[in-house]
Amino acid sequence: AGSRAGIFSHRPDMGSQPGTKQQHPHHGHHQKGHIGQNVMAAEDLSQHRNGTHTGNGHAREHFGGNAGGAALILQEHVHDKHRSAAPRPLVGILLPDISNLFFSSIGQAFLLEARAQGSDAIVMVHGDQPGQDLANPDTLLSRGVGGVVMVRSARTTPEEEDTLREKILKSRIPVVVMDRKMDIPNVKSVLLDNREGARMAVRYLLEQGHTRIGCITGPLEDVVCRERLLGYQDALEEAAIAYDESLICQGDYRPEDGVKYLPYLLGKSVTGIFCFNDMISLGVYTGCRAYHLRIPVDLSVIGYDGIPFCETLDVPLSTVEQPVEEMGRAAATLLKQMMYQPQCAQDRLFLPSLQIRASTASPADPSRR
Ligand code: RIB
Repeated sequence: AGSRAGIFSHRPDMGSQPGTKQQHPHHGHHQKGHIGQNVMAAEDLSQHRNGTHTGNGHAREHFGGNAGGAALILQEHVHDKHRSAAPRPLVGILLPDISNLFFSSIGQAFLLEARAQGSDAIVMVHGDQPGQDLANPDTLLSRGVGGVVMVRSARTTPEEEDTLREKILKSRIPVVVMDRKMDIPNVKSVLLDNREGARMAVRYLLEQGHTRIGCITGPLEDVVCRERLLGYQDALEEAAIAYDESLICQGDYRPEDGVKYLPYLLGKSVTGIFCFNDMISLGVYTGCRAYHLRIPVDLSVIGYDGIPFCETLDVPLSTVEQPVEEMGRAAATLLKQMMYQPQCAQDRLFLPSLQIRASTASPADPSRR
């Protein structure tokens, strides 16, 4: 204990670390260009629209934005005493949830790029509820939102997708579809090659010697999941390994899915699990701890998305990393084109990258036993 106390006896020099309590010389005044995240009430949004918003940052939480749908509206305030007379354009990104670091990373990249391009930006969350994705696009327009990037719900049925498609086609607000593809005339998208990403992950496990690889997916009505499942099947076919549908477990992109399906897949004698996102992988980790299983000695795990902290887990997670920074920036740029130069707007398709870390290994690797 003494030696350990020695290690922590001194507090690292806080210096001018962000978040320290040091009194800034101008504490309490908003420096030019100071950015603070505020929740902005609807009326503040309308003031913002006609440029009367004082930018004083007094805002209240506003829930129930789009036609009663629960929408938490976050407004990135630019406290700029020298705000130009014309209000900056306001754009939005509509995300399923920001508790998943994949979406919060996308939202962050979009916000910062939109601001760098001279727009203010808001993040809206629809809770992954079908029908709430873009509850009422013209409400957004009436609140001064000039364009929106939308990641729709993963559990949208074909009928709900048709309704959403009609809504977008009839709405006057420019929309960019992101992540979850929708084929809508004149609507541009920022997408990932999900099938290739899955193929890379499963091909790697097969090259490590795995032949029984379980899958824990997101909602299979979601085109993203269907593409990833196709990539899984492609890799098996390339290796002449028969597809076994009993190794596929449909989840909901949540850690609970990993905990729930681990015992079943162990019972099917899998030596590796391909999780359709990193959040599910975290659940598999939890389950392995409960069963005293070692990753990767007893089980290899590979995820999808590449959310922050994958590499800081006690067993750093191998994953299919999505280029979220580039995708978020591309969404902001494409939306600006859709708003002002629609003739220049082009779909964007990104490739993921395979990040191999400590959570995957050969199933028969004696050195790890
Ligand atoms: O983690 C959430 C998943 O849903 C991601 O893989 C993303 O592609 C979205 O579709």
